[in-house]
Amino acid sequence: MRILGTGSAAPKNVLTNQMLSTMVDTSDEWIVERTGIRTRHIAADDETALTMARDAATRALAAADIPASRIKLVICASVTNELRCPSLACSLQRDLGLPEEIMAFDINAACSGFIFALITASEFLKADDCALIVGSEVLSRITDYNDRSTCVLFGDGAGAAVIESSDEPLSWITTVKGDDQMLMIDDYIHMDGQAVFKFAVETLTRSIRSVTEKAGLTLAELDLIICHQANQRILASASKRLGVAMDRFFVNLAEHGNTSAASVPIALDEAVRAGLLHKDMRVILAGFGGGLTSGAIAMRWS
Ligand code: UT7
Repeated sequence: MRILGTGSAAPKNVLTNQMLSTMVDTSDEWIVERTGIRTRHIAADDETALTMARDAATRALAAADIPASRIKLVICASVTNELRCPSLACSLQRDLGLPEEIMAFDINAACSGFIFALITASEFLKADDCALIVGSEVLSRITDYNDRSTCVLFGDGAGAAVIESSDEPLSWITTVKGDDQMLMIDDYIHMDGQAVFKFAVETLTRSIRSVTEKAGLTLAELDLIICHQANQRILASASKRLGVAMDRFFVNLAEHGNTSAASVPIALDEAVRAGLLHKDMRVILAGFGGGLTSGAIAMRWS
């Protein structure tokens, strides 16, 4: 699999730690120390999972610079589409004027959604085919702003990638452990923070190690690791356990907070735009979250 272009979109409105401290019993100091998050983007009334997905996907398609006729598959990962039907992916097909002779559907794998979608697409695509993969979330609409243990964490945004099949096989690994106690969403997000933290550190460490081995690489050969952005301390713990320096982990959670399925593609797009990815670099993409789910991909950037 080759990534031809990436894009992302974040709402203009920003919610700072200081603003949150006027809404619930918290402080900038606590949030920064326990999570690393300083701000998160919050959708205005007229911004939805679809409008953000459209902006991110438009940018990714422009960066990929391919005719729309090459897109054979659209997969959107989200837990916050306004409608049960049509899917985000079907609405995107219409709004972006993509061909009708394709498949388009949404998946819900929470914060691992973009990784699961990338793997699904890469296994599906035939030679010369392309796919549009999007993660888009308006988590602010399912965040309880009376609950300080969750409301400081989440933000809104979207990220997208256009991929094409390539001869190089993709190394990937996924896990699923059905559990509705640690992290569950009904009208709002409910989370046992400490239990999820422990799960996150263990699963992230294990999946990065396993996918690296599967790709025939050593941890020392990894150039950049782009993980789900949930908590700075989760990334720091994984870095320590793996013995891989923090400067090889891409981190943007101070600005965005946790954007669930949008988190990995936003981080990927920001890494691309910052000029951090070069040909032949060894890159890991990794996600973990509700389900419980986890997934990691090892790829050579081309
Ligand atoms: O995307 C899905 C994956 N999600 C995650 O990876 C999230 C994983 N979990 C976490 O990131 C962390 O567990 C949290 C950031 C949610 C919480 O941090 P923690 O260090 O695990 O805190 P805690 O839950 O153990 O709470 C410690 C204290 C408690 O007070 P007491 O009982 O010691 O008096 C909490 O009530 O901190 C209190 N607390 C807060 N204080 C100020 C919890 N939230 C806040 C807050 N501001 N926002």
